[in-house]
Amino acid sequence: MGPTRREMLALMAGLGLAGCARSDDRPKIGFIVKQPEEQWFQSEWFHADRAGAEHGFTVIKIGAPDGDRVLSAIDTLAAKNALGFVICTPDPKLGPAIRQSAAMWGLKVMSVDDRLIGPDGDPIESIPHVGISALNIGTMAGQVIAREAAGRGWDLASGEVGLLRLAFDSLQTGLERTQGGRDALIAAGLPASAVYDAPQRTTDTEGGFTAANPVLTRMGAIRKWAIIGMNDEAVLGGVRAAEGLGLSRSDIIGVGIGGSGSATAEFSKANPTGFFASILLSPKRHGYDTALALYRWGEAGEAPAPLVYTDGLEMTRDNWQALLAEQNA
Ligand code: GLA
Repeated sequence: MGPTRREMLALMAGLGLAGCARSDDRPKIGFIVKQPEEQWFQSEWFHADRAGAEHGFTVIKIGAPDGDRVLSAIDTLAAKNALGFVICTPDPKLGPAIRQSAAMWGLKVMSVDDRLIGPDGDPIESIPHVGISALNIGTMAGQVIAREAAGRGWDLASGEVGLLRLAFDSLQTGLERTQGGRDALIAAGLPASAVYDAPQRTTDTEGGFTAANPVLTRMGAIRKWAIIGMNDEAVLGGVRAAEGLGLSRSDIIGVGIGGSGSATAEFSKANPTGFFASILLSPKRHGYDTALALYRWGEAGEAPAPLVYTDGLEMTRDNWQALLAEQNA
């Protein structure tokens, strides 16, 4: 049997690793995210901090873009005597390692956004999770495109319109989001043969651009594009690639998912772009609610709901300010 948590902490304190823990006596939780530079995760952190300020705990925010950094983040949190952590993992397959490390230190763990998967490939059900209703939200994105296409007089069935699906299918939520979007457009009359997949290596704007560019170039004969992806950044990358190939905004209908700063920056531009809309998610529910649930679990033993799925709202240039004002009220 290995050392107990108390022994490990004593050892780390001896090494000076736990030294700063005393500077703040409030209980602490960790909030680990895979892509700290992404607006969505900045918003989650912002709301987690608010939960801490309102309920008397400190949130230790750590960006961990790979497995090594996730594991060292967990060690750091243990050294700081945190109660546990909320995590959006850089790779769901780290599930068993995250679970084991948290258990070794006696830390509570819950996942947000991207669900952890076990050695059998199934979700780890014992780890509470808050995610978006991926299929529904993807379906909404597709329906927004279908409505706008009809408004522009596009004939989806004609073969003149292509659907670019920025794909990150190794992530279940990413797969479901874009499947929902694709199926909604097929239901609206788009032939399945007009769907073009562009697999992304990364889920940021650059990853979307790099994936979209060769597909749009190859299919240069198609001059009207609908664009979907797992988040705003992916769709923005696709829109930028289409613009770069000379398509005008009236030939592009991109609908993202997120509605955080990447989308609102686009809606704030003086002239509309091909990024037509986004489905607004709730960083408050993913940041504030998860942080508070984790804190209450660690502090008072109240276990969080095992599985929560959140909804989205259609956001466009016309309503984004009003929507955000309502959300932040
Ligand atoms: C995933 C994506 C993020 C964001 C969240 C929302 O983690 O990578 O961009 O969409 O889901 O749950």
